[in-house]
Amino acid sequence: MAYQTLIVEIEDYVALIRLNRPEALNALNSTLLGELADALAAADKNDKVRCIVITGSEKAFAAGADIKEMSEQSFVDMFTKNFFSTETDGILKTRKPVIAAVAGYALGGGCELAMMCDFIIAAENAKFGQPEINLGVVAGMGGTQRLTRFVGKSKSMDMHLTGRFMDAAEAERSGLVSRVVPLAQLLPEAMAAAHKIAEKSLMSTMVVKECVNRAYETTLAEGVHFERRIFYALFSTEDQKEGMSAFLEKREPQFRDR
Ligand code: CAA
Repeated sequence: MAYQTLIVEIEDYVALIRLNRPEALNALNSTLLGELADALAAADKNDKVRCIVITGSEKAFAAGADIKEMSEQSFVDMFTKNFFSTETDGILKTRKPVIAAVAGYALGGGCELAMMCDFIIAAENAKFGQPEINLGVVAGMGGTQRLTRFVGKSKSMDMHLTGRFMDAAEAERSGLVSRVVPLAQLLPEAMAAAHKIAEKSLMSTMVVKECVNRAYETTLAEGVHFERRIFYALFSTEDQKEGMSAFLEKREPQFRDR
């Protein structure tokens, strides 16, 4: 399918989704967010996709929600259109693993989009920020909640209240990103991680995602209980038999997603 604001390539069971509004540093307008939710839903349904990578350009992953589009909206417009809600709900519904490969600016909604992915690999030139305070507003795609869970209250308050940017080294130190690599290595590293994930049993990767995300939604005891129930359930799958037999037979497992 052809998109106006995205370039989607699928190869070796990995879908690479590039945000493509270079004229606006990939600012997230309604078209882009809608297309992204559609592309993720399509990838989720596609048997030829087992992992997804979202990236931007070398200069910007995304410089935030589109300020031009938002500037003239009233409270009534935002409230009645439920601005951002449908699209972000769609993005968050993705059940297959999603990696954000971030170079350049990931600001406002761009930082929030990266945080909606399952993990973030950053290039050395990445800059993260929630500068909505400079526009007289506040983050609107979950930034106050997700950034706080990633980096803790003090740094989250600092970022949201001052609007300052965090470089890649600070983002890695604070637990916002999982790895930092030189810019030229960003896509190779993210694609290699995605291909490694694509080799696993899809059921296992999908339940890892459910279990880890559950940690943000519930108590420790409930989360551990949920994980244990899922762990037991996986003993009903052929992939568990195959994975454990392959280990004992000293060979690579051949997972069949059943
Ligand atoms: N929305 C719309 N257009 C944007 C944009 C945005 N968020 N960010 C950049 N652009 C556009 C600029 O208007 C400019 O377009 P023109 O050439 O037509 O003027 C083009 O992209 C290039 O931008 P700059 O000339 O500003 O590039 P720069 O290298 O000098 O600066 C920057 C880069 C520091 C990222 C700067 O563009 C910037 O501060 N952008 C806005 C960042 C921001 O405030 N993001 C939060 C948005 S609100 C939000 O996201 C709410 C939410 O939580 C959901």
